[in-house]
Amino acid sequence: MKIVRVLILLTFFLGCQKEKISKCDDSIGLFTFSSYPIGTAIDINELEFNPIYKSIAIKQFNSITPENIFKAEYIHPEPLFFNWSQADSLTSFCEQNNKRLYGHTLIWHKQLPQWILNFEGSSSDWEQLMKTHIQTIVTHFKNKVTAWEVVNEAFNEDGTLRNNIWKQKIGSGYIEKAFVFAQEADPNALLFYNDYNLEMNLTKRHSVLSLFNNLRNRGVRVDGIGMQMHVNTSYPEPSQIASAFQEIAANNFKIHVSELDISINPFDHNIEPSEKLLTEQANLLGNIVFNYNEIPDQYQYGITFWGISDKNSWIRNYYNREDYPLLYDDNYLPKTCYCKLIETL
Ligand code: XIL
Repeated sequence: MKIVRVLILLTFFLGCQKEKISKCDDSIGLFTFSSYPIGTAIDINELEFNPIYKSIAIKQFNSITPENIFKAEYIHPEPLFFNWSQADSLTSFCEQNNKRLYGHTLIWHKQLPQWILNFEGSSSDWEQLMKTHIQTIVTHFKNKVTAWEVVNEAFNEDGTLRNNIWKQKIGSGYIEKAFVFAQEADPNALLFYNDYNLEMNLTKRHSVLSLFNNLRNRGVRVDGIGMQMHVNTSYPEPSQIASAFQEIAANNFKIHVSELDISINPFDHNIEPSEKLLTEQANLLGNIVFNYNEIPDQYQYGITFWGISDKNSWIRNYYNREDYPLLYDDNYLPKTCYCKLIETL
């Protein structure tokens, strides 16, 4: 009996050890393998207080997207007060470490401060509010932020415009106005539109392309499209992703894969991060990168992951489910998909 117990304990111990042994070597930074930037969303609190997180951010990535602190509720919490402190510390981090900074995001229907939600005024008052919001922020980060994500998630899945607060108060023209305001404030920054499901929802993608082609015809500058790509091992098919890349590039928009993560538990089952699932995840990542490599260089704005370690992924908090969607595991060890990425870049 005693022997059996010892054997069980030993097997358990070895199992745990095995999980901690990583097969991937991350001693050379990811971005050094790539001809386009490889980015991550940064959680400012992790960056400040977690040295392992910080060292991975510095070593592996050369493009940074603030995960939250540029959003209106953080950066513009009161009508006459802009809270620059954390944003400025991230900006200095980027300058010191030679990282590209991507401005996420100016106009969105989520994470708005109460004062905007409660604001009362005419449509021209709302337009003025939006103009001040955009131009104060863009001016503050002039020559520091390389590209702005001017509008985020403006479309419904059926291809119509989302009836968000901006559309309700300013009208459908708010998107065009937002791009014009951003361009006026910093003519050198690139301007992006960002959305999800563009890789698998053709109706939505075609509406987005049609709107931004129209804006261009009207003389508004729009440089690129951010494809969030919160995808998972069940869908979309790699061929759908390939067509989306090809089509957006053929319309002459740069593509930023702007928030990539690959869920292995989209249906919230009770799962383990098995080798099989992690390999499927790695293969999907390999396919995404392979297809991204196929588009002409001038359209490759870069691939940004929505976080560093599974431990910090927004999916666990936001959807309240177990998941393992990123390049590093809970112990900050690189996963199978990390290796696949290096292999494919
Ligand atoms: C998420 C952040 O990761 C979370 O920390 C926050 O609580 C909610 O927002 N699409 C976007 C991102 O454009 O800003 C979202 O980020 C994820 C979905």
